[in-house]
Amino acid sequence: MNKSELMLICASPRCKGTSAMLLERIRAVTGGEIVFLSQKDSLDELVLAMQQAAIIIISGPCYVNTFPAGLIELLETASQTGGFSGQKLYGIINGGMPYIHTHRHGLTCLQLFAEQNHLLWQGGFVLGGGAMLDGKPLEKHMNRKKVVPAFDHFIQNIVEGNKSPDSLYEQAQSPPGKLVTRIFAKLLTSLVVKRLKKHGHDPEAPNWYLREQG
Ligand SMILES: Cc1cc2nc3c(=O)[nH]c(=O)nc-3n(C[C@H](O)[C@H](O)[C@H](O)COP(=O)(O)O)c2cc1C
Repeated sequence: MNKSELMLICASPRCKGTSAMLLERIRAVTGGEIVFLSQKDSLDELVLAMQQAAIIIISGPCYVNTFPAGLIELLETASQTGGFSGQKLYGIINGGMPYIHTHRHGLTCLQLFAEQNHLLWQGGFVLGGGAMLDGKPLEKHMNRKKVVPAFDHFIQNIVEGNKSPDSLYEQAQSPPGKLVTRIFAKLLTSLVVKRLKKHGHDPEAPNWYLREQG
C-alpha cells in the first residue's frame, strides 16, 4: 500500500474522540495522515485530495441515527464535483447507544455515495457503545473480547485491499437484553431529569414544542 495514497478523514468535531481513536488505530498500521473535517475551510480542497487518493477511510460519530451534517455536506460537494474513478472507500461509524442498527445508516450513505460516483465501496465497521469509550483505547470497550479482534481484522482487510463484510462487526457485538436495557433507560432518564432540575427546568412540564403557542 502506498501510504501517500491513503486518506483518513475524521468527521467528528472532537479530535480526541472515539472516531479519531479508531482512525489512529488504523494509522498505526497503515501510516498516512488524519484529516479533521471540522478544521478544513474548503470542502473543494478536500474533494480534490479525495480524488487523488487510492483509498479513503471515513470515520465519524452517529448524530441522530446517521453521520453529522458536515460529512453529508462533504459527500454532496464531492458528488457535484465528480471526477472519481475506482477509489476504494471504507467507512466507520460509532454511536453512543450499544446497538448497531441505529448507527448503520451512516454506512448506507457512504455505500450509496460510492455506487453513484464511481468509487468502490469496500464495507465498513459499526461500533456501538462508542460514547462510553470517549476516545479511550478499544481495549476498554464493553465487548472488547470480540470487538478488538474484529476491528483489527477490519484493519487487515484494508491493508490487503479486501472488502470487509458486515458480519465482522455484527458478530462482535450483541445488544444488551431487555432487563439491562430497562435499567440503562432508567439511568439515562434520571440523568436527564437531574440535569433539567440543575438548570432550573421542570422535568414534568410539557414539551416546549407541544405547548400551545399563545
Ligand atoms: C448532536 C448529537 C447527536 C447524537 N445522536 C446519537 C444517536 O442518534 N445515537 C447514538 O447512539 N448516539 C448519538 N450521539 C452520541 C455520539 O454518537 C457518541 O457520543 C459518539 O461516541 C461520539 O463520537 P466521537 O467521540 O468520535 O465524537 C449523539 C451525539 C451528539 C453530540
